[in-house]
Amino acid sequence: MNQDLNRDHGVGVCSAVVGLQWGDEGKGKLVDRMASEHDAVVRYNGGANAGHSVVVGGERYALHLIPSGILSSQVKAVIGNGVVVDPEVLLREIEGLRARGVDTSNLIVSDRAHVVLQYHKDEDNLREALLTAGGGSGAIGTTKRGIGPAYADKVQRSAGVRVGDLLRPEILREKIERACTYKRAATAEICRELGVESPAFDPGPVFERAVVLGRELEPMIDDTVYLLNGMIGEGKSLLFEGANATLLDVDHGTYPFVTSSNSSALGIHAGSGVPARALSRVVGVLKAYSSRVGSGPMPTELGDATGERIRERGREYGTTTGRPRRVGWLDLVAARYAAMINGTTELAVTLLDVLAGFDELKVCIAYELDGGRTERFIPDGHVLAGARPIYETLSGFGDEISDCRGVDELPGAARAYVERIEAFVGVPVCSIGVGPERSQTIETSAGVVG
Ligand code: GDP
Ligand code: IMO
Ligand code: MG
Repeated sequence: MNQDLNRDHGVGVCSAVVGLQWGDEGKGKLVDRMASEHDAVVRYNGGANAGHSVVVGGERYALHLIPSGILSSQVKAVIGNGVVVDPEVLLREIEGLRARGVDTSNLIVSDRAHVVLQYHKDEDNLREALLTAGGGSGAIGTTKRGIGPAYADKVQRSAGVRVGDLLRPEILREKIERACTYKRAATAEICRELGVESPAFDPGPVFERAVVLGRELEPMIDDTVYLLNGMIGEGKSLLFEGANATLLDVDHGTYPFVTSSNSSALGIHAGSGVPARALSRVVGVLKAYSSRVGSGPMPTELGDATGERIRERGREYGTTTGRPRRVGWLDLVAARYAAMINGTTELAVTLLDVLAGFDELKVCIAYELDGGRTERFIPDGHVLAGARPIYETLSGFGDEISDCRGVDELPGAARAYVERIEAFVGVPVCSIGVGPERSQTIETSAGVVG
């Protein structure tokens, strides 16, 4: 055992970027900006349900499984053990980046990450269809990327395939055969109920394909837990890239309308094998308004012309599925809760430019529930559905702000809006996004109020 791995000098050298809402806060852009100050960018949760956009020099990249740090050469891009990896998506993504001249030789995949196979996607589709059938309101609105079934297999333990298994044909065949038997049984009743034919769940072709995929991935597969802790031991710094977001966290989000992993910063340590003491900086990414894709409560949702205007100005269409995102006013109650559980050390307010041109802006500062008022978030999908937002109204700002590069260049009302966020959440705002380009960012070292 290398004693160096246990040295203390790496304490507190790592940072994290996590979404404070329901996803799509602009994490990808921020990770790309911060990547070059770190030695590795690490994904620790989720899978191809994530869609992180990075715009550099007018070129837009949409990353699903590959960490957004891939665009910075010299930085390792690590897919940690807590991710569920769809090898088909991963290899397509690598190919797409290479075709655009991006060097992907720094990409490393954990041998312990679980694998998403076709039968997980089939199961995801069927389960969603059943929840939707007959006008039922229970559907989660998943991305249908097989995320829930793959995590379920991991926790269930009888047939979960890990990346390392792709290189061990005997074990792989046995697991896939067992998984197909289970899938057939688990979905037979669903198919009958829906009146659809059952997918084949034929282990042969799944196994053959998995072996081919494993061979292609082999050079990238490693024990990332030793790799990352070794880097920390050498005084190197890691940047953790959260996928999905805090209000979609399986334990702390709006359950059951959540994803299947700990997508807040609380998932970092289990999902990477890096101990908590290594993390000193947590950047909470907060979109200047709310958005959500899929089902579940969103107290500040706007179904009117204001909502439509925000959607169009913010180009709120899913990076992964293309679905129009639901939008609404900023929910500060949710933001303060999310900042609390992430141990957020600073806020990055994003897409502020989208709010230019409105006469007034509303922010939710409490909820009305069962005739009472509460300033606490309600992390239960069914209970939160009954909450009504209590708003505070702030002045809007007329001028476009996309060219502003300093806080003092912002219109007074835009600055006041950010100051209100800072005061309510109680965490300094250290960056403000005014456009999708890497450069369209205002940085403030000690918060806007200062
Ligand atoms: P992520 O999943 O958190 O990485 O966010 P997405 O990439 O799915 O969605 C954020 C969208 O907003 C993308 O289209 C980004 O290019 C874009 N974006 C990021 N920051 C800003 C910003 O400050 N202003 C504007 N107008 N767009 C932004
Ligand atoms: P990024 O990283 C927005 C949502 C889905 C659905 C729920 C469960 O781009 O911010 P799943 O496929 O995970 O089982 O779906 O979670 N969801 C996201 N919404 N951005 C994401 O990722 C999301 N990842 C999952 O829309 O409501
Ligand atoms: Mg996204």
